[in-house]
Amino acid sequence: MATNHLIGLVLGTEEDWPSAFEGLIRKVGQPIAFEGTDHTFSTERVTYHPFNLRDVPRYSLVIDRLAHWYTLSREWLKKVALMDDVYLLNNPFTFQAMTKHSAYCAMMRLGLKVPETWMVPHKIPPDDPRFPDTSRKYNVPFDLQEVAAKVGYPLFMKPFDGGAWVGVTRVTDGDDLAARYDESGERLMHLQASVENFDVFARSLSIGAETMVMRFDADRPMYDRYQVSHGFLEPETGLEVVTIGKLINAFFRWEFNSCETLVKDGEVYPIDYANAAPDLALTSLHYYFPWAIKTLVKWSLFCCVTDRPMRVDQDMHAYFRIGDDPAIPYEEKLAGYRRLADSYFETDRYTEFCAKYIPEIDEAMVGYIDSPEFDKLLVDTCRSTFPAHEQERFIAHYRGLLAAWVKDQD
Ligand SMILES: Nc1ncnc2c1ncn2[C@@H]1O[C@H](COP(=O)(O)OP(=O)(O)OP(=O)(O)O)[C@@H](O)[C@H]1O
Ligand SMILES: [Mg+2]
Repeated sequence: MATNHLIGLVLGTEEDWPSAFEGLIRKVGQPIAFEGTDHTFSTERVTYHPFNLRDVPRYSLVIDRLAHWYTLSREWLKKVALMDDVYLLNNPFTFQAMTKHSAYCAMMRLGLKVPETWMVPHKIPPDDPRFPDTSRKYNVPFDLQEVAAKVGYPLFMKPFDGGAWVGVTRVTDGDDLAARYDESGERLMHLQASVENFDVFARSLSIGAETMVMRFDADRPMYDRYQVSHGFLEPETGLEVVTIGKLINAFFRWEFNSCETLVKDGEVYPIDYANAAPDLALTSLHYYFPWAIKTLVKWSLFCCVTDRPMRVDQDMHAYFRIGDDPAIPYEEKLAGYRRLADSYFETDRYTEFCAKYIPEIDEAMVGYIDSPEFDKLLVDTCRSTFPAHEQERFIAHYRGLLAAWVKDQD
């Protein structure tokens, strides 16, 4: 028997990682003989047009980069998940329902060290004729300064569902607070205690069963935020950061997400971990870009070949049973969550699958990154990202980082 799996890419403007993904798929797994069937793979960029809700899609798996802002593709993804069992990275249902706020709530209940966070009513309430009466009856007057005093300064004011730093400010005193709140307008905001003087900002990227923890420096320019640095966390802390990333993804049924944690005096504080379309840009991930593409390919092949079912529904209570038990200490809770997450992502089976069925992938990725095809992608990406006078410098910069990655694979 033979089966071809069509992998759909729901894309916006980005060209870098999709081209690399397509390039690597052409090089590996053609075909994979698994339990009596020969599996082959092709990719296609999904286009947007009117569709009949009963249309049967041709895709086995779809990687989505648009659903968080483009409703047409989001609703198409929901249709293909609900009606056709297409495997999705990511689950559009939980990403729509679970904002940054819900993600804080769930992880607080599970005992994670999310900094103290308050939600405050809108500065400018919803423009709805029912609001004035509703508000008169039920909105209790409040003193913003009092709330801030409970959180303590400095604090971060940020949107409850935010992304891309929009509306995020660090607030140091009462006057600042009043001004920032005025600016927040119609946006619903959190006040969150700031983790000051942390030792490490660890940003992890999870793709299916794997997580890469990277040292991040948010104060540097975009191209220089991910630091090429190994062993920057104590092994136990590193494991904790990985576990938190996996837990969040297994809990919410996300497959492809990034998680920001601040590490201070050995304690791990998660601050932002609901990123439906995590940063995958060649110009920001640089050295880690090959890992990301390779892992995306590995996870996609694993899901297609083993016919892994798409989980639309959640299993929150398995996690809450651990989280709600005051007799279980934090470390043991994490170990319990890790078992649940590894079972959800079939970590052992995935690892065996990769070793047995796509053993050539590491070499194929090195070959691809070392190829003129990739070099052209790197050059094109730099030309479309940076102003003319900076392009040559950046081309040399990224070539150096990617060459270092190739060398480190020996
Ligand atoms: N509680 C906190 N303590 C210390 N720093 C914080 C805290 N919350 C946010 N920050 C800083 O502000 C930045 C932006 O906040 P956050 O990540 O929550 O917003 P965002 O809009 O999701 O940003 P992005 O999309 O860039 O990840 C963080 O990367 C971090 O540098
Ligand atoms: Mg963030």
